[in-house]
Amino acid sequence: MFKHLNVNTMLSYLVYVSQRNSKCTQPEIDKILQACQRNNTHNDATGVLLYSDKRFVQYLEGDYQKITALYDKIKLDERHKNVRLVHIGNIQDRIFPSWQMGAKEFNEDNINFLTNLSKDESKLFENIVAGKETSGNNIPAVISKFF
Ligand SMILES: Cc1cc2nc3c(=O)[nH]c(=O)nc-3n(C[C@H](O)[C@H](O)[C@H](O)COP(=O)(O)O)c2cc1C
Repeated sequence: MFKHLNVNTMLSYLVYVSQRNSKCTQPEIDKILQACQRNNTHNDATGVLLYSDKRFVQYLEGDYQKITALYDKIKLDERHKNVRLVHIGNIQDRIFPSWQMGAKEFNEDNINFLTNLSKDESKLFENIVAGKETSGNNIPAVISKFF
């Protein structure tokens, strides 16, 4: 007969912004990325972590239940605070299919120089960094421009 299809398995993405704790030094960020290597394969979660001296912006993609559970765990981490969900949505395909967690440092004062964002995209990224909920559709495309 037919193979069972689980129609509830949705591919989703989630973006949040948080304030980096001053005690969260580069070696701590390296440890976070090691945890991603350890756990995200098992969770089938992929994504990227952008960080400045003050903030984190993380983009997670995968199964809705798994990435929201992961987000709930990450929120409790003392290496950051004021964690704010910016957007959660669905996607057809992963943007970062082979990355447990890509990482890149960004300079909040000079976003345009580091990437080639259009005016609208810069504005969207500024809104993400400010923790403003956005309509979301262009978020994956903007995040991918950092890599
Ligand atoms: C900004 C930030 C992003 C993080 N992202 C992830 C992640 O994507 N996956 C993960 O397993 N842990 C992530 N962590 C670390 C978790 O909070 C937690 O320390 C880790 O998952 C514990 O791993 P363990 O259970 O293997 O010891 C993140 C922490 C911070 C502060």
